[in-house]
Amino acid sequence: MNFLQLNDNQLIKQANYLNGRWQVSNKFITVSNPANGVELGTIPVIDKLALEQTITAAQEAFDTYSKTNSYKRSEWLLKWYDLILSAQDDLAKILTQEQGKPLAEAKGEILYAASFIKWFAEQINADYGLTLNSPVDNKQFHTHKQAIGVAALITPWNFPAAMITRKAAAALAAGCSIIIKPSELTPFTAIALVELAHRAGFQKGVINLVTGNAPMIGDALCHDQRVKKLSFTGSTPVGQKLFAQSATSLKRLSLELGGNAPFIIFADADLDAAVDALMISKFRNNGQTCVAANRIYVDQNLQQAFLTKLKAKLPSLTVGNGMDKNVQLGPLINQAAVDKVHDLVASAISAGAKLEYQADLNESNSPFFPVTLLVDITPNMPIAQKEIFGPVLAVQWFDEETEVITRANSTDAGLAAYFFSDNIHRCQRVAGALDYGMIGINDGMVSNAVSPFGGIKQSGLGREGGHTGLAEYQYIKAHCYGQLS
Ligand code: SIN
Repeated sequence: MNFLQLNDNQLIKQANYLNGRWQVSNKFITVSNPANGVELGTIPVIDKLALEQTITAAQEAFDTYSKTNSYKRSEWLLKWYDLILSAQDDLAKILTQEQGKPLAEAKGEILYAASFIKWFAEQINADYGLTLNSPVDNKQFHTHKQAIGVAALITPWNFPAAMITRKAAAALAAGCSIIIKPSELTPFTAIALVELAHRAGFQKGVINLVTGNAPMIGDALCHDQRVKKLSFTGSTPVGQKLFAQSATSLKRLSLELGGNAPFIIFADADLDAAVDALMISKFRNNGQTCVAANRIYVDQNLQQAFLTKLKAKLPSLTVGNGMDKNVQLGPLINQAAVDKVHDLVASAISAGAKLEYQADLNESNSPFFPVTLLVDITPNMPIAQKEIFGPVLAVQWFDEETEVITRANSTDAGLAAYFFSDNIHRCQRVAGALDYGMIGINDGMVSNAVSPFGGIKQSGLGREGGHTGLAEYQYIKAHCYGQLS
């Protein structure tokens, strides 16, 4: 184990958490720091039998845990929340070393992750069923909410803490037992979070964590009838595969998939505010978010003013190892990610895009990518059609509102969209017209525990967080009382 500067080394286990115990395996995967290639540790490759036993344990735990009252579940969650806050410095260091994002940003993610736990701990005690007005004199109709069952949570590498808690806190609050499958690129943040959950006192089998061969684990979890729910955050192709594999068990699904967010700046926008928000939306996690501004549309008349303001900000973005205090942008997750972004930029330039700015990069032989600004992007270029997932601003110009709305909507993705305008009528019109699950209106950051997160079209199904997040892990049971006097 090779993590630097931790106060509590017990947060790191090179093991899976199965039925309340940390268990090692003789087959393992090595995890490395993307910033420098240093090996951080190893994680087990779970086999089919151990996975099967884990599902059995989660099922048995569900039978008891789902019957504990919501106040008790809320207390466990709040204890977990407190432990995370106390360990936030260590958690951030683990996150930075395995994922790459700068330490301050990693700490922000830990607080964001913790906010879901607090949110759902409070939501569950305010949750209720209904008594329905009956049209029949001697009958009463009621609705009750029940926990859906064992929930499998498959999470990505870009937010190794928050994507777990956004799912886990809702599931645990609702009364589900869970099996977490973190990304094999960033498992140690998940392991540390689960170790803290263990310390918070959740009963054995309620929380489980497995790592290893992702296709094998995904397939087994999808096909198993005892797993009633699957929540996945990741790419659209993998989401589609899990959807198909879940057909035979008719599993309830939440799929938070890829985006291709438009970021529109109208002529009547507060340009300073728009550029500030664009910097946040684009450069959060070095562009590696599903909600990052991907297609930037700027009114033709703002060209010069926009480029002047934006270019003044770009040189201050320092790229490097996220453990260094002065760094704002870490590495991309691996060399394949760098190659993909490189190809998108190269093909845009060869198709006529103009390279308006590219930072010098001191780092070589490593998965870093220079901050890049391209203009004159056209809709047919791959960079306008795919998620860039890197620090590249790809700008298109537009003339009219209806034209830009049509262009913004002409994609299969429907996760997040942003626009800037100081005209309230335009704000209402455009917010209504954009085909996306989340709209930032004069704002570049839509993510918050209180607000439903999710997309439409090929960006997925379901909503996480917010007042609807619990319902993803519950079913509604109708009780009908007859023969009443
Ligand atoms: C994501 O990129 O998958 C999620 C980002 C967020 O929660 O804001």
